[in-house]
Amino acid sequence: MKIKYLLATVLLIGSLIGNSQDKRSAFVDNLISQMTLEEKVGQMNLYNGFFDATGPVPDNQDTKNKYNQIKNGEVGAMLNVKTVKEIKALQQLAVENSRLGIPMLFGFDVIHGHKISGPIPLAESASWDLEAIEKAAAYAAMEAAAVGINWTFAPMVDIGRDARWGRNMEGAGEDTYLGTKIAAARVKGFQGDDLSDPNTIAACAKHFAAYGFAEAGREYNTTDMGLSTLYNVILPPFQAAVDAGVATFMNGFNEINGIPVTGDPWLQRDILKGQWGFDGFVVSDWGSIGEMVAHSYAKDNKTAAKIGANAGSDMDMEAYVYINHLKELVEEGEVKESVLDDAVSRILKVKYDLGLFDDPYLYCDEEKEKSMAVSQEVKDGALDMAKKSIVLLKNDGVLPLSKTSKNVAVIGQIAASKTSVLGSWRLGADDNSAVSVLEGLKPYLGDNMKYERGVEVWSGTEAFAQELKINEDNTDGIDEAVKLAKSSDVVIVVAGEHGYQSGEGRSRADIRLPGLQRKMLKKICAVNSNVVLVLTNGRPLDLSWEDANIPAILETWQLGAMSGHAIAEVLFGEHNPSGKLPMTFPREVGQVPLYYNQKSTGRGGAKDMVFWSHYSDVPNTGLYPFGHGLSYTKYDYSGLSITQQGNTFTVSVNVTNSGKRDGHEVVQLYIRDKYASVTRPIKELKGFEKVFIKAGETQTVQFTLDDTTLGFYNNQGTYIVEDGDFEVMVGGDSVNTQNGAFTRG
Ligand code: NOJ
Repeated sequence: MKIKYLLATVLLIGSLIGNSQDKRSAFVDNLISQMTLEEKVGQMNLYNGFFDATGPVPDNQDTKNKYNQIKNGEVGAMLNVKTVKEIKALQQLAVENSRLGIPMLFGFDVIHGHKISGPIPLAESASWDLEAIEKAAAYAAMEAAAVGINWTFAPMVDIGRDARWGRNMEGAGEDTYLGTKIAAARVKGFQGDDLSDPNTIAACAKHFAAYGFAEAGREYNTTDMGLSTLYNVILPPFQAAVDAGVATFMNGFNEINGIPVTGDPWLQRDILKGQWGFDGFVVSDWGSIGEMVAHSYAKDNKTAAKIGANAGSDMDMEAYVYINHLKELVEEGEVKESVLDDAVSRILKVKYDLGLFDDPYLYCDEEKEKSMAVSQEVKDGALDMAKKSIVLLKNDGVLPLSKTSKNVAVIGQIAASKTSVLGSWRLGADDNSAVSVLEGLKPYLGDNMKYERGVEVWSGTEAFAQELKINEDNTDGIDEAVKLAKSSDVVIVVAGEHGYQSGEGRSRADIRLPGLQRKMLKKICAVNSNVVLVLTNGRPLDLSWEDANIPAILETWQLGAMSGHAIAEVLFGEHNPSGKLPMTFPREVGQVPLYYNQKSTGRGGAKDMVFWSHYSDVPNTGLYPFGHGLSYTKYDYSGLSITQQGNTFTVSVNVTNSGKRDGHEVVQLYIRDKYASVTRPIKELKGFEKVFIKAGETQTVQFTLDDTTLGFYNNQGTYIVEDGDFEVMVGGDSVNTQNGAFTRG
């Protein structure tokens, strides 16, 4: 560490009798007072590493220049460097060579586990288990911190309602209430109670804001939305992240209502840093400051840098526009130096909180890196999360399978894949590091199981940055699969999307099973009626045909390293499934965006004539509603009651496990505000509880509704609570509910 700022700081801090926040501010202010303009701009500059990339790498990469800039203190942070050796070497360059020796941040997309890939976030969200979700993030942080990483670009807290959008896999789904709870849990998991603990890392709430509402579900597309949706649907999970103490924010690639969010001072300065009091820093998304030129918002890179900095984008990820233009812009008076001071102060505070000024190599422990790579504790955690994420969509009595089953056919390319089920954001994990479904089934079935790959789903390179090649015409393998199915007692077909068919840059216009999988399924179902469909996918799919023709369907998303074990435990009934859908599954792609908490139209309700809001070819409803998920037991709801004390309402319901197995049920509470000064949805989730109920037992579950849950944001962004009539709905999904009502005021 550089003696210069250390000494000055120590002297200053020694003379201060203040709390830790004051000490941090004093330290940071003192450091800033010693910085040149170039060094300030440097702190606002985030570069990709030298090997892996998660975005378009600019032409003419000048590696030597990058090294020199690090040495000169012109790089504040790096991303996509992932071993202690490399991180230590780069940190050393910065700390030992630059004038002030300010350590760098090392960011990475630690999205679902790290070395040991966990279930994709959408899957985790299906657990509705906040404790497990927090723990999963804590394990991911531990693993990432062990390889030198101190900053994750997670959680993504974008609400997604359009199944075509590939990045649904990275979020908590369609619901704002569930999304706020999960946002807070993930932030707490990554950051723990103390950022300077070398097992925790800084989190990043992204993509501020409304990236999930890209038109037509097409990645990077324009967003256009009214204020009511922005305030009530999009912003609350971001605010929950701030309230949970998130250290950083990332903006996005999209524009909203004509303004690229990266250049939007209203969102970043007024709302985020103003109203919400966020004191961390905002990083741009990859190149998004420069992309304001392509958006036709900035006339050139220099203007983009000016707009970005003035709008409150504190750090430039890979657009190179701050490093190239910001100094000049300050000298010309286009950007005030105080704007830089504010941004740098925010960045340095995060470094301070991470403990990097005390020890820049805090996260660089080779021994820990080695031991973490084989951590049984993390694997057990990933298995637990995986089991909890599975959703039983349909079961006509075929599941669970008996452990003494004979003649079981397992079919599908995905069944044997040890890579696909790792999911999309698994950059820290090795290829082929998952337990495949086939491997998971082997201990249960041994020689009673036969495997056929069936039709090829994909071929060629499986890589994060490249389009996957899907087979649309070669039917080889179908005949063999059908032959095996014919001679088997039970057929397990593992089908769905490859892990690289969802995620960034992976929107799909057709959300049926990719390639020729449905064609193969049809032939298999024609020769055997005992078919179990095990699905892997990163978004809701159109499963209309499958639902109508297959007796049992298990939604397993992409469950990461422990996939095969988790799936086998559920198939054989060792784990009773309890997952519930965090997104509606549509019947047809033409219904999307489809979500349970719609507004009522002026023309709802079926009528004789055509003059009501409907399709003439499919029902309005989804195939599987939000909150849906079956179990190997059965839960009956009864006795809904509501009591009132002032404006606080207590809702109770009895839930009876009337089946033969113990299990967990996610009890969901929805409300409808019947009349309001801004129209409210037909139902909104406002509470849930995951309860364990033994077979034959009943539990009474209670919820409290008060002003924190009964209000909404008006179009001025003010949270208000209005008197009036409310409906209450409680059940095991968003459709089958016990209903009650009360009046507030
Ligand atoms: C672009 C993605 O949108 C963002 O979420 C991610 O964190 C960055 N690339 C860095 O990989």
